[in-house]
Amino acid sequence: MQQSGMIRHTLLLLSVLSFLAAGPGAVVADELYCITCHRGVTPGYVQDWEVSRHAAMGIDCAVCHGEDHQGSDDPHMAQMPTEEVCAMCHQDQYDQFAAGKHNHGWKSLNAMAVTHVEPPELMDGSRGCGGCHNMGLKSEEELQAYKDKGYRYQVNSCDECHTRHSFSKTEAQDPRSCQMCHMGYDHPQWEMWSSAKHGTRWFAKDSGNLPENAAAPTCQHCHLPGGTHTNRTAWGFFGVRLPLPEDPQWAKDRTTILKALGVLNPETGEPTERLKVVQELDMVRLTEEDWQAERTRMLDICAGCHSRSYARTQLETGDTMIRKADELMARAIDIVADLYADGIIEKPEGYPFAYPDFFYFMRTAGHKLENFSHIDQVLFQMYMKHRMRTYQGCFHLNPDYAYWYGWAMMTKDLGEIEKSAALLRQAHAAKTAKPWYRKLFW
Ligand code: HEC
Ligand code: HEC
Ligand code: HEC
Ligand code: HEC
Ligand code: HEC
Ligand code: HEC
Ligand code: HEC
Ligand code: HEC
Repeated sequence: MQQSGMIRHTLLLLSVLSFLAAGPGAVVADELYCITCHRGVTPGYVQDWEVSRHAAMGIDCAVCHGEDHQGSDDPHMAQMPTEEVCAMCHQDQYDQFAAGKHNHGWKSLNAMAVTHVEPPELMDGSRGCGGCHNMGLKSEEELQAYKDKGYRYQVNSCDECHTRHSFSKTEAQDPRSCQMCHMGYDHPQWEMWSSAKHGTRWFAKDSGNLPENAAAPTCQHCHLPGGTHTNRTAWGFFGVRLPLPEDPQWAKDRTTILKALGVLNPETGEPTERLKVVQELDMVRLTEEDWQAERTRMLDICAGCHSRSYARTQLETGDTMIRKADELMARAIDIVADLYADGIIEKPEGYPFAYPDFFYFMRTAGHKLENFSHIDQVLFQMYMKHRMRTYQGCFHLNPDYAYWYGWAMMTKDLGEIEKSAALLRQAHAAKTAKPWYRKLFW
């Protein structure tokens, strides 16, 4: 015991000496002020930092947190480092991140009005939507607004995959580092991947049942290939794109969906102001070339293992299922739109048009549910949940998601919408019909 204690002390002394020998002034100050005290105050964090490459390279607490906080009575003076601090030494990763979709997370959350009526704890406080959408560089104004509301933490996106303070590359290469955000109710890519063949293989490798160099693509392999920090897909989350397809039926169905997304004016068919937001936040690929470039990139990745024609066939299955899902979707939208047009359901307060509006629903969903008819809610779920599972399940090669959670649920939604619409029409007719005796005499 005593001996190992002595060895520890000797090692510590040696490491202090080596810091002193190698170190610029800041390292010395850190060892004296920051580390020494924090070994007592937050020992777990010092330990975590010690296993990082940063510790080995002498990048200490003060490099990221500054030196304004010096002791126990002024911890609020410690700075919380933004991505800019990481960029001092990791400009490439910063630039790649800035060019990808993750950079839009915070902005797309804040573009939804629902964000401003939900409990702040779940938004800026990061326990709900904000916990996943704390992705993306914040502008000076955004940071200021955040501080003004009394928030201090969660100003850095770089610790979302390689978490502080070990900042480990291998942690970020593990697909489980994506799980927290890419799972569950709204975007179950984790469930799709992990229970389909690619994921199954990865887990078999992880538990030693397949050799370490067996092929098993992870989320990173397909979405952050070659170690890039730029993530972007051809279809994106909403599964729409411009220009309209050549197939006339699909073009018609897609137009209906774009109206329900409010990017086309349902009355005139002209683009609305909302298209600008969609454009700014890169929600939709707006040209054929842009879409094709992402598709080709993905195909190249598949072709690292599969034959190109095999992989192309698989991806085209996803495209075809978007087309077929769009057909069901457009039928459902038309039914609800007709109810609005005939005055059978009323335009909810604040709706821009007497037409279903997915974005508006999303913006107010948790806010004034009584404003929305049941049929509107079924329609919203059909789009946001079941249509997405249909094609995301295809792209992630998961039969259960593509069918049971996707297509099968869409057909069920459509049935429910048809039935409810008929009942609403009946009830409306009964309400507005003339009483029998008036029919007799006039
Ligand atoms: C004399 C002890 C002491 C020294 C020296 C010290 N700290 Fe701290 N530090 C604390 C205490 C106490 C807290 C508050 C811990 C708590 O809230 O549980 C703290 C908190 C922090 C926090 C978190 C602040 C927050 O708002 O959550 C950071 C970051 C930090 N210190 C970094 C540093 C850095 C960098 C240095 C060196 C420049 C340093 N500390 C030096 C005692 C110290
Ligand atoms: C003062 C320069 C500096 C700053 C600031 C800095 N780093 Fe590093 N970082 C390094 C150096 C040096 C390495 C080691 C590179 C190597 O291993 O060759 C490194 C390595 C890394 C690694 C790879 C670790 C591994 O397991 O190989 C990650 C991830 C990382 N840094 C993330 C960050 C993040 C996130 C921030 C901001 C919160 C940050 N760094 C701030 C200099 C810095
Ligand atoms: C569990 C994590 C998580 C929560 C909670 C969450 N989101 Fe998301 N959100 C994501 C992920 C991941 C994506 C990208 C999904 C995809 O492409 O399939 C996304 C996509 C989006 C998009 C589309 C962005 C685009 O460009 O395609 C919007 C808008 C959005 N979320 C808003 C919200 C709002 C508003 C809330 C709260 C009411 C919320 N999100 C809650 C993780 C989350
Ligand atoms: C490479 C940069 C970097 C280094 C070095 C670093 N930190 Fe941090 N630290 C961060 C980041 C990033 C955050 C999270 C900021 C945010 O988004 O709020 C953070 C947050 C913290 C927090 C508050 C949040 C929490 O989880 O409690 C404490 C305490 C802290 N660091 C202590 C330390 C101590 C002690 C050291 C030195 C042993 C250290 N840090 C070194 C980057 C760094
Ligand atoms: C979506 C997850 C994710 C986010 C967010 C993220 N990274 Fe990474 N990072 C990774 C992955 C995955 C790797 C491993 C790449 C590889 O396989 O070479 C990595 C590796 C790194 C490395 C080590 C590079 C090398 O080759 O040694 C650095 C440095 C780094 N990231 C910095 C950053 C910075 C700075 C940010 C914020 C601007 C950031 N990362 C945000 C996933 C992420
Ligand atoms: C902290 C939460 C979080 C983590 C962790 C995370 N993501 Fe994301 N991801 C998001 C959000 C939020 C979006 C949507 C951004 C937006 O609003 O545009 C997103 C979008 C994406 C997209 C873009 C899809 C499109 O629309 O084209 C891909 C691909 C992606 N993430 C892959 C990954 C991978 C791979 C990992 C793990 C290495 C990962 N993400 C880790 C939150 C996260
Ligand atoms: C074998 C390659 C591959 C793997 C592994 C993979 N994906 Fe995907 N992913 C795709 C393809 C293909 C698409 C659809 C691309 C398109 O739009 O053409 C896609 C789409 C996405 C999208 C955007 C559209 C959507 O489905 O919401 C997100 C987000 C995403 N993947 C996240 C993940 C995450 C997280 C993991 C790991 C849990 C993962 N993917 C694993 C190939 C892969
Ligand atoms: C790193 C190698 C690798 C990459 C990259 C890869 N796959 Fe696979 N894929 C495999 C292996 C291995 C299997 C398991 C084969 C089996 O089931 O016998 C598999 C299985 C499949 C299956 C069959 C699933 C089943 O249930 O039988 C399909 C479909 C598939 N991959 C499509 C794709 C597509 C599309 C891409 C690109 C988006 C892709 N793969 C990328 C290695 C890869």
